[in-house]
Amino acid sequence: MKTTIYYFSGTGNSLKIAKDLSVKLENCEAIPIAKLWKQDVIIPKSEKIGLIFPLYFYGSPAIIIEFLKKLEVNKINYVFAIITSHGGGSGATLYQINKILRKSSKHLNGGFSVRMPGNYIPMYDITSKEKLNRDYKEAKENIEMIADIIQKNGEKVQKEALRFVGNLISKIFIKSVNKGDKNFYADERCNSCEICEKVCPVNNIKIIDGKPEWQHKCQRCLACIHFCPQEAIQYGKKTIKRKRYHHPEITVNDIMNQK
Ligand SMILES: Cc1cc2nc3c(=O)[nH]c(=O)nc-3n(C[C@H](O)[C@H](O)[C@H](O)COP(=O)(O)O)c2cc1C
Repeated sequence: MKTTIYYFSGTGNSLKIAKDLSVKLENCEAIPIAKLWKQDVIIPKSEKIGLIFPLYFYGSPAIIIEFLKKLEVNKINYVFAIITSHGGGSGATLYQINKILRKSSKHLNGGFSVRMPGNYIPMYDITSKEKLNRDYKEAKENIEMIADIIQKNGEKVQKEALRFVGNLISKIFIKSVNKGDKNFYADERCNSCEICEKVCPVNNIKIIDGKPEWQHKCQRCLACIHFCPQEAIQYGKKTIKRKRYHHPEITVNDIMNQK
């Protein structure tokens, strides 16, 4: 059976998982959600589909919820989701997805989380190289196990301990996410290369007089901060001294091609 993976990724962790999984599954295609989410109705390309994306404040990114609400799920027979996160859990994401699917009498057949390096530098710094490599190694093993279940159309959805609190925090985050971009700015190192505009998966950045301006439809994926070659983009003051990150096997072109 053909599988279509729909993915969203700011710094490449979820894209790397999508790429690795699509090699392991028979007849599998990975498609970026950012190319589709603005359509009025989204027709799935196969009966078996997967969603791969990062955890944002204990829940799904706003773009995932919008995408799912527009996806014509009636013809789908098997749905799985893989959430990448710094803590290794899935918050309330699987619950959120299931809630939408159940409206069309469908349910989540497979639900998994994979620990990957944290990228939320407004709150913490990037971890050591040893820890990054440990996460990548563990993720590889995890994907083997997940691929095996999905290949057999297995029914396995991991339990979510933080489902109710997580859903509440996620709702608060989603409400303010678009306009939360007022905390972004480019400092004096900005050389007008325009890469921030190109990597933004939702076209939220416009270059005006050579400098980026955020247009208040942000998803907070942080692609702009992490892919700026000058490290000139900041979110508040905390990011000034912190390291930048993207998955080492995912290039700036991979992220640009998401839209
Ligand atoms: C806005 C935002 C919120 C995040 N919230 C959480 C969180 O609640 N729990 C967690 O474990 N990781 C959190 N993270 C970390 C990401 O989920 C993690 O680094 C993910 O693998 C990034 O995937 P990507 O590279 O595909 O964008 C957050 C990251 C961002 C950008």
